[in-house]
Amino acid sequence: MTSDHIMPVTSVWLTCQTLARDQRRGRYVPQTSSHPGKMLPNLAAHAINSFTTPSDLVLDPMCGSGTTLVEAMHLGREAIGIDIEPRYADLAEANVDLAASQGAAGTAKVLTGDATALLDLVPASAVGRVGLVLTSPPYGRGTHGLVKATSTGVRKRDHLYGDRERGNLAYAGWSRLLDGFATILAASYELLRPGGSVVITCRPVRRQRDDLIDLPGELLAVAQSVGLVPVQRCAAMLAAVRDGQIIHRASMFGLMAVRRARTEGVPVHLIAHEDVLVLRRS
Ligand SMILES: C[S@@+](CC[C@H](N)C(=O)[O-])C[C@H]1O[C@@H](n2cnc3c(N)ncnc32)[C@H](O)[C@@H]1O
Repeated sequence: MTSDHIMPVTSVWLTCQTLARDQRRGRYVPQTSSHPGKMLPNLAAHAINSFTTPSDLVLDPMCGSGTTLVEAMHLGREAIGIDIEPRYADLAEANVDLAASQGAAGTAKVLTGDATALLDLVPASAVGRVGLVLTSPPYGRGTHGLVKATSTGVRKRDHLYGDRERGNLAYAGWSRLLDGFATILAASYELLRPGGSVVITCRPVRRQRDDLIDLPGELLAVAQSVGLVPVQRCAAMLAAVRDGQIIHRASMFGLMAVRRARTEGVPVHLIAHEDVLVLRRS
């Protein structure tokens, strides 16, 4: 990584003062919990509020459960979302329908497909009209998911992305993930209007105990390579801040992994924020 890819944090977004499940309650269908890598609704809403105005077009080329679309609709924006897994596209569609039934002022369209062929998927009318691309790539086959205690022990569920469709970046190695993401960003660039923004949320990934991958730095380099200009690097809190103290919201598995690593002498910390990279089409 060169010094071009290092940016200081410009602001901290208080996006987790309320628990994630309370942010979603009543606003998302209950099956949304089945998606293993959802964005915080408050994070999506803050990004959309900050970088678009009402009736702007917002795109999420890897929309998962549809958080970007739902928050865009409630803020009176138009949105397009794509996911390669049909079951997540169906989930996003169900969340879009719920937002519409609740009187959201905007509308959203969900497409199923491989976003590396973005320009073949979206309507031609979207070219040069997108005000904001808001997205988060999958990094790895899954996350901590949900935990249930049973008589035989603790079970995880909904922690893996499901289908290994060709092109599913959740199952790609690092270089294919970065190449695929570069292709998606290059097409997104074509869809953006001049001055339009790209917001990418991600975090460093620990693969082996002592092998920390700087995914935000890698994605920033990829975004710059397709011509996007970095304008801000922010931290979106995954923890609450109360009376000057950080109240963590880590899962039991997150806590256990940190404790185990520390017992083995690896000085890891609980993750309390997500990196937010903000770039612009010049
Ligand atoms: C981190 S998740 C996005 C979660 C979403 N922001 C939400 O709040 O639910 C990444 C998504 O990318 C999808 N995906 C992976 N490869 C893809 C591709 N080539 N084209 C489109 N979607 C893809 C996965 O199915 C997954 O749902």
